[in-house]
Amino acid sequence: MKFDQNVAAALNQQINNELQASYVYLAMAAYFDASKLPGFAKWFRAHAEEEIDHAMRIYDFIVKRDGAVSLNGVAQPEKTYASPAAALKTALAMEEDVTAQIHKLFELAHDVKEYGTQNMLHWFLEEQIDEEDLFRHLLEQVEAAGDSRWHLLTLDRELAAPAKQ
Ligand code: FEO
Repeated sequence: MKFDQNVAAALNQQINNELQASYVYLAMAAYFDASKLPGFAKWFRAHAEEEIDHAMRIYDFIVKRDGAVSLNGVAQPEKTYASPAAALKTALAMEEDVTAQIHKLFELAHDVKEYGTQNMLHWFLEEQIDEEDLFRHLLEQVEAAGDSRWHLLTLDRELAAPAKQ
């Protein structure tokens, strides 16, 4: 069945959205490195890589459907944040935006009866539930640490441990 061109264009846009998220998380990793919180930096760096995996999932799907991958530029991310909590709030808001983007994609695929695309997007629907939960949980922990550098450093050590990745 011929690949719907509107769906192909929307999937290409989602590749860009995922790569944009990766770039923002890499910038957050750099912010945490500069803040002497290497555990947070490691955590965000790993998450930046995860977003590239998300983009490549869609890339591979487009290729498999004999569609054309079209890459666009990504915007320059913020370099600094007022606090670790501010960075986490930005990250959570971005994940909520990505969830809305996936929902919109799913609706489009549904409207034009792109069943294969809907099936592929099921993975992303589940993933976004996990992503929002992950970032919300970390934000809650950072907020609980408050202004205490000691608590933040304790959390930083936990994030540096492989089991918490
Ligand atoms: Fe690809 Fe964090 O959503």
